[in-house]
Amino acid sequence: MSVQTRKVAIIGTGHVGSHVAFALATQGEVDELYMSDIDKEKALSQATDVNDAVSYLPHHVEAKACDIEDIGTCDILVISAGPLPDPNKDRLESLGDTVAILKDVLPRVKASGFNGCILSISNPADVVAAYIQRVLNYPKHKIISSGTALDSARLQRLLSETLQVNRRSLTAFAMGEHGGSAMVPWSHVTVGGKPLIDLQTSMPERFPSFDHDAMTEAMKYGGYLVLKGKGSTEFGIASSAVEIIRAIFHNEHKILPVSCLLDGEYGQHNVFASVPAMLGKDGVELIVELNLTADEQERFAASCNRIREYLAKADT
Ligand code: LAC
Repeated sequence: MSVQTRKVAIIGTGHVGSHVAFALATQGEVDELYMSDIDKEKALSQATDVNDAVSYLPHHVEAKACDIEDIGTCDILVISAGPLPDPNKDRLESLGDTVAILKDVLPRVKASGFNGCILSISNPADVVAAYIQRVLNYPKHKIISSGTALDSARLQRLLSETLQVNRRSLTAFAMGEHGGSAMVPWSHVTVGGKPLIDLQTSMPERFPSFDHDAMTEAMKYGGYLVLKGKGSTEFGIASSAVEIIRAIFHNEHKILPVSCLLDGEYGQHNVFASVPAMLGKDGVELIVELNLTADEQERFAASCNRIREYLAKADT
C-alpha cells in the first residue's frame, strides 16, 4: 500500500458512495478519490462537488471521475453500487439487482489490476461481500463489508440515550447479518469496562434494566426510519466506512464489528458475517472469538444461516 498518497476508489457514487467520499475528504483520510458510476455525469458531478468543498477544507483532496479500469493504483476500493433502497423491502430482496450490477463491475475491477482492500457496502451487505470474494477469488483478509459497523453505531446511540452514558464509555456492537437477523452479544456490552448486566444488578437505580430485545429491534430498524424520512441513509454509513478505512490506512490494529469471511470462527464456515475483527494495513489481521452465551451463539448461528441461504440464491 502506498503510504505517501492515499487513494480510494468508489464504485457507485449515489447517496452512500458520495457521502463516503465527502466524509473521507472532510476527515482528511484520503488524498485522491477515484469516483466511478454507471451514470458518468453523476460521477463527474459528485467529484466536482467534492473538489468544490476542498476550497474550504484543511486538507487537499483531488476527486476525479473515472472508469473502473482506472482504479488499479488505488489502495482501497469501496463498492457502494446498487439499487435505491426500498423502506418496504428487506435488504436481502435487493440481491438480484445488486448482483446484476456486479456482473458488469467485477470483471472490470479484475482487469484494472486493483489488489488493495475492498470495503463492500452494497446490500445485502454480507451476501454481496461473499459474492465478490468468490467471483474475484480474493484473499479473504482483504475483503470486508461494513456489515454491522453501522448497526453498532445505532446501538451505541440508543444505549447512550437510554443509559445517559457517553458513547466513548460504552463497548457495544452487533454481530451477524447487517439486517433483520442481527444480534447483540449483550453479555459483552460494557460501561466503563464493567458488564452492563452487572451494573444493572449492582446499581439498578442508575442503570435500570431494559428490554434487550426491544433495543435490538430498534437498532435493526433504525435505518428504515431514516430511509422512510429522507429516502436514503448516508451519514451513519459514511461515518462507519471512514472508521474502517482509517483503521486500514493508519494500520491501527483496531477491532471493529465488520463482516468478514469466517473460516471456523464461531463454528462457522464459508459465510461473511459481522464479528469483532482487528483491522490494519492489510485488512483483517485477526478475528476475536467471544465467549458467547448459549443463546447468543444460537442467535449468531441463525443469522449466519440466513446469510448462507441468500448467498446460494446469488450463485444461481
Ligand atoms: C442502512 C443501510 C446502509 O442500514 O443498509 O442504513
